[in-house]
Amino acid sequence: MPARLVILASGAGSTLQAFLDAAASGDLPAEIAAVGSDRPDSAALQRATAAGVPTFALPVQPGADRALWNASLAEAIAAHEPDLVVLAGFMRVLGPALVRRFRIVNVHPSLLPSFPGAHAIRDALAHGVRITGVTVHWVDEGLDSGPIIAQAAVEIAADDTEDTLRARIQDVEKPLYLTTIRSLAKELR
Ligand code: GAR
Repeated sequence: MPARLVILASGAGSTLQAFLDAAASGDLPAEIAAVGSDRPDSAALQRATAAGVPTFALPVQPGADRALWNASLAEAIAAHEPDLVVLAGFMRVLGPALVRRFRIVNVHPSLLPSFPGAHAIRDALAHGVRITGVTVHWVDEGLDSGPIIAQAAVEIAADDTEDTLRARIQDVEKPLYLTTIRSLAKELR
């Protein structure tokens, strides 16, 4: 039986799309069991639905108890019995109980431990570094702080904007993430 993945995404879902395309072409030794989001209207969920993959959405209500949201998210994930939870642009920090319950992998658009957080590309440009990149890492209870699995470097050009740099980072991050998840999926089954 192939490893079962639950993919969580908040935004445009181009990373998710790379996984959906790989699965459709038989190039992913894993099944995408479900895609979840904190944004019911995200393009990521639309991409999953278009690919015939089950979806679930758990929006964070303003002022609501975050522990309850984490517990609901954990149950929604568990219902799909994943071997691995794959974060693909999921922009919420996961609570400790959820992190301990599943094996979770994230991709982050910087060379961690530099530039953790939600604005990694902007922060790298603002700092004036000449090289940034992509990190695939296990998710622990901190912010982008878990053990590093794979990294790739991306040079910053003098005329880079956030958009041009993001595009080059995403060109590097998709194959790196796919390669990493392929090998983890094989190890897990
Ligand atoms: C990706 O570039 C990913 O590295 C980043 O969000 C983007 C999602 O794009 N993740 C983070 O910044 C996590 N802190 P997508 O919605 O098109 O897949």
